[in-house]
Amino acid sequence: MIVPVDVDSTKPLYLQIADHITMLAVGGQLGGGTRLPASRQLAESLQVHRSTVVNAYEELKARGVIDATQGSGSYVVPGLVVSSRQAPAIMPALREPDDIVRMLWRVNRADGVISLALGLPADELMPIETYEAARSRALRRDRAEALNYEDPSGYEPLRRAIAGHLAKSGAVVDPENVIVTVGAQEALNLTARALATYGDTVLVEAPGFFLYTMNLKRLGYNVLGYRLRPSGPDWASLAGTLCQTTVGGACDSLPRPRFVLASPDFQNPTGSHWSADDRHRFVDTMQELDLQVIEDATYRDLVYDGAPQMPLLALDDDVIHIGTFSKVMMPALRIGYIVARGALREQLITLRNIACGSAYGLAQRAVTEMLVTGQYDEHVRRIQAEYRVRRDALCAALDEYMPDEVQFEKPMGGFYVWLRLPEQVNAVTLFTEALQRGIAVAPSHVFYPDGLHENAVRLSFARYNADTLRYAAKRLADLVHHMMR
Ligand SMILES: Cc1ncc(COP(=O)(O)O)c(C=O)c1O
Repeated sequence: MIVPVDVDSTKPLYLQIADHITMLAVGGQLGGGTRLPASRQLAESLQVHRSTVVNAYEELKARGVIDATQGSGSYVVPGLVVSSRQAPAIMPALREPDDIVRMLWRVNRADGVISLALGLPADELMPIETYEAARSRALRRDRAEALNYEDPSGYEPLRRAIAGHLAKSGAVVDPENVIVTVGAQEALNLTARALATYGDTVLVEAPGFFLYTMNLKRLGYNVLGYRLRPSGPDWASLAGTLCQTTVGGACDSLPRPRFVLASPDFQNPTGSHWSADDRHRFVDTMQELDLQVIEDATYRDLVYDGAPQMPLLALDDDVIHIGTFSKVMMPALRIGYIVARGALREQLITLRNIACGSAYGLAQRAVTEMLVTGQYDEHVRRIQAEYRVRRDALCAALDEYMPDEVQFEKPMGGFYVWLRLPEQVNAVTLFTEALQRGIAVAPSHVFYPDGLHENAVRLSFARYNADTLRYAAKRLADLVHHMMR
């Protein structure tokens, strides 16, 4: 049996083994009745101490994953296998962000689970008919050209339409400087790879988008985080991190960050929305320090109260700006974009050509149609109204049912509520216990690049109607009350 063990991980080896075997048993790769290798044999093949495997087997026994009778071996208990539509009956003691994120996907559409954990838009709010009609028109018009390789920098009319869309928010952009990407995720990945290399220091929000942090760490970057206030960066935290990393003054032995990531519009996961003053101050500070800013505007169009502030790009055209159509329209489009200038733009186009050629040309044409005909703006207005109702319902229910010790700010836009928990309610324990009761939430430590983190969970209100959100908030609140006793 092969069990990947990571001796550098902070997770004890016996738990790594127990969690992996639990995953295999629950996932059906190890069927009921399968005999596990003897502890000595597994210890030899994994090159760990025998007591590590003995402890792992004890843990599995305690979880009800295996039956072990002295002398006759250890067997996987029958009936553990769950399909992807069922929530697992046995929850491994997950702590590592990677394991938790995999589990969140596993239960994402499981029967009986309300998942507030991931950032999916609502299925029923997707503009399927409008998109389908736009796609058919584009195919009839452009035929094979729409299905051939596309220019790796993107379909030219789409780049123009994106520049037009950005102009409405005050950013003047040359369409030449727009690069169409496979979602914002590719845009984040490409810019990170273009600007830094193994061992470099980079600065991100803490907490921040977990797939991004996971990616940067896997690229071998030294990932530092700065904290946020509801209306901007936590300036003391930013100054502290910059002093640690910026050449000059007392800090000259430490490396400069290659870039600083900022999501000023309804940040994932805190919902932070930066004030105009904070935006100006941030851009001025980074200009003074000569640090490259990457702006992630993934949630920018999802505003529910008032109007969003100007994007950082409108204040400084050296800012690299990233956007996407995933949250407003459909993630499966896989259409995002980068605005970047000069040599960096050239490098990004080459990198994306190498990475995966061109984004799907027919989808690019359909999105162009929706942008230029005004269907996109009309759709945004429709979903803003519905997401506002959902946000209000979740926040009202949290206000009503949660104990006073639980705190959150009502976000002005985006998908998320960041629920700060009292000390007695550990976020990972809450995640595990809530999942057993059919509610999935995302525990805070997956959003941090370092071990230091606020004890919180992220709840997404996008996917469910107001009644379901109220029900989920009540169940979660009952559990929190119970854990506080
Ligand atoms: C902050 C943030 N940036 C980028 C992305 C990736 O978006 P896309 O689906 O366009 O790749 C997400 C998705 O959840 C996100 O939350």
